[in-house]
Amino acid sequence: MDPFIDALLAKMTLEEKIGQLNLLTSGWDVTGPTMNEDYKDDIAAGKVGAVFNAFTASYTRSLQKIAVEQTRLGIPLLFGYDVIHGHRTIFPISLGEAASWDLAAIEAAARVAATEAAAEGVHWTFAPMVDIARDPRWGRISEGSGEDVYLSTQIATARVKGFQGEDLAALDTLLACAKHYAAYGQAQGGRDYHTTDMSERELWDTYLPPFQATVEAGVATLMTAFNDLNGVPTTGSAYLLDDILKTRWGFEGFVVTDYTSINEMVPHGFARDNRHATQLAINTGVDMDMQGAVFVDHLKALVLEGKVARDRIDAAARKILAMKYRLGLFDDPYRYMDEDRQQREIYKPENLQAARDMARKSMVLLKNADGLLPLRKNGLSLAVIGPLADSKADMIGSWAAAGDRHDKPVTLLEGIRAAVGDDTKVTYARGGGYEFDDTDRSGFADAMAIARTADVIILAMGEKWDMTGEAASRTSLDLPGTQPALMRALRELGKPMVLVLMNGRPLTINWAATEVDAILETWYAGTMGGFAIADVLFGDYNPSGKLPVTFPRSVGQIPLYYNMKNTGRPYDVNGVEQKYRSRYIDSPNTPLYPFGYGLSYTTFTYSEIRLDSAQMAAGGTLTASVTVTNSGARDGEEVVQLYVRDLVGSVTRPVRELKGFQKIMLKKGQSQTVTFALQPADLAFHRRDMSYGAEAGEFKLFIGGSSEAVKEADFTLLDTVVLRPAHSP
Ligand code: IFM
Repeated sequence: MDPFIDALLAKMTLEEKIGQLNLLTSGWDVTGPTMNEDYKDDIAAGKVGAVFNAFTASYTRSLQKIAVEQTRLGIPLLFGYDVIHGHRTIFPISLGEAASWDLAAIEAAARVAATEAAAEGVHWTFAPMVDIARDPRWGRISEGSGEDVYLSTQIATARVKGFQGEDLAALDTLLACAKHYAAYGQAQGGRDYHTTDMSERELWDTYLPPFQATVEAGVATLMTAFNDLNGVPTTGSAYLLDDILKTRWGFEGFVVTDYTSINEMVPHGFARDNRHATQLAINTGVDMDMQGAVFVDHLKALVLEGKVARDRIDAAARKILAMKYRLGLFDDPYRYMDEDRQQREIYKPENLQAARDMARKSMVLLKNADGLLPLRKNGLSLAVIGPLADSKADMIGSWAAAGDRHDKPVTLLEGIRAAVGDDTKVTYARGGGYEFDDTDRSGFADAMAIARTADVIILAMGEKWDMTGEAASRTSLDLPGTQPALMRALRELGKPMVLVLMNGRPLTINWAATEVDAILETWYAGTMGGFAIADVLFGDYNPSGKLPVTFPRSVGQIPLYYNMKNTGRPYDVNGVEQKYRSRYIDSPNTPLYPFGYGLSYTTFTYSEIRLDSAQMAAGGTLTASVTVTNSGARDGEEVVQLYVRDLVGSVTRPVRELKGFQKIMLKKGQSQTVTFALQPADLAFHRRDMSYGAEAGEFKLFIGGSSEAVKEADFTLLDTVVLRPAHSP
């Protein structure tokens, strides 16, 4: 590759090199994606290296033709797109997929998405989103894998593998892009694009590991974020881009900005004007400008003024050209654009089946009083009620860019009707609205009428799809609109009631948690969502999802996550008078539903933990085993979770940290021994001096089916093990 790129770079003018660093969006009209005519001129003038939001084989080909036939050197365009949780066949939102704790299924879902998108001329996805998020007010919590470092890191790696496969030149793979680097998920107050400010230790222990994991997995690109971090916009942060990403982690791919985030360094108050912002971005390590058009406007002048080195432009162009080379675009610029393949790949039965499977796996059974679920399919009268019961648009959630919201998605009502026997009567009423300002109760009467004659009420409630995702921060986590009032009115009938939640973040559903008989969290389940929910409601699939994020009781508890610190005055739920303890006077500290929690239609019992030794040596491995038994009446899957607590550290340590999990399938009555192997590296953290290592001392280890696992054992790490020396910011 190098001689080819060297020769190409040698032929390129400075303007042509800068053109490669420019990424522009296509728009959309009723007929499909469309490109602004001025942008087409820019492509023809060699001022564009990549285009996003363009897809379909024929449309991307038409743009590629401009680049190949009308520019001096015929360098092909790179096509990017937000292929986040599926392309045409939409899978559950990313947070939902994370709730499956099924890495193989998550990798497979990314592979399906890549296969469909690559057949439509797309080369590059702006995924995975690997931001840790601990504030459910932030709408983008729906796009990641939740609050936990270990789980998110595993999932980030699985997604990169799924998108990129083994060979970037294969026609069913995409370049992946880990985003948004870095710490975007900690936006203050959960308000999108807001400031992030945190200690170095918090940054390194919590927010950076998923990014580092994607770099280690060979992710092709990284995207900067919109936020400033400790006073420096991430798009102009030499610390993040040059020092950490390039120097320490050895990242060899290219860095793209988020949408106009170079220009946004001006309102951030970090750059005087766009030219200054351009200089800061390129010199700190940004290689490609998304939609800001500031590189094409200002880079040449900055080079001529000596403020940006020619070498820096060469280095950025080289990285982008190298990716085009790895995709095989210099051999055949049109190789991904194939109408026949597009026809074959999109919505193929295997893809739809994979989406249904993933959706079932992602659902979390939060409550099931008196075993109300699963419902029988025959001889029942079911009243299906709620604004989300028959809404195709909502089913696929946000960031389902090429997903159809009109015809393809299977709604809950359709799924239920398809599942039940002829002698089950299914009635439907929308009942109420989910818009924030909705006060119209005129639909209540219909809902009450069908509920009165039903055996079971199935409520489909939650958030309208665009209430989550980007720029969808909320100050309340209650069910919006008239949904709570409708639910209360229906409860008065005293009928068995199931609440099917569709939402992109934890919600404060305290009333429902007490009053409603069964609650199933389904997130936004995707194209096959209605079938998948019905599979769970009627017992064709036994729910196995576990929460990847804590559900608080109130907004006032936020941030609330399982691996908090103990404090010097921990509150003991079993203790007596404890006024001067770390607590609220008007609420328990505990969440409504903890991280890792999720019920099944069967039950699992755990043996005591067996350790092969009570001591771990430097360089040694400690194994911990439990025997898990399916003690209920149905076959089912369990996510066996292992947590540790480091009792004393050179800095205070969390009360629990997830360090391993295994998802196992057990037939009823069956037992299986699950074994985890731990090494000192698994116990490492950024120590008082910012060295990274595990410290000698006492540890507790917990294994169970949630972060509140009760089986515990003790062990000692005999020696301190330093894995990386101290560094300063
Ligand atoms: O990929 C996205 C990003 O997550 C938010 N801003 C726009 C990008 C491209 O659509």
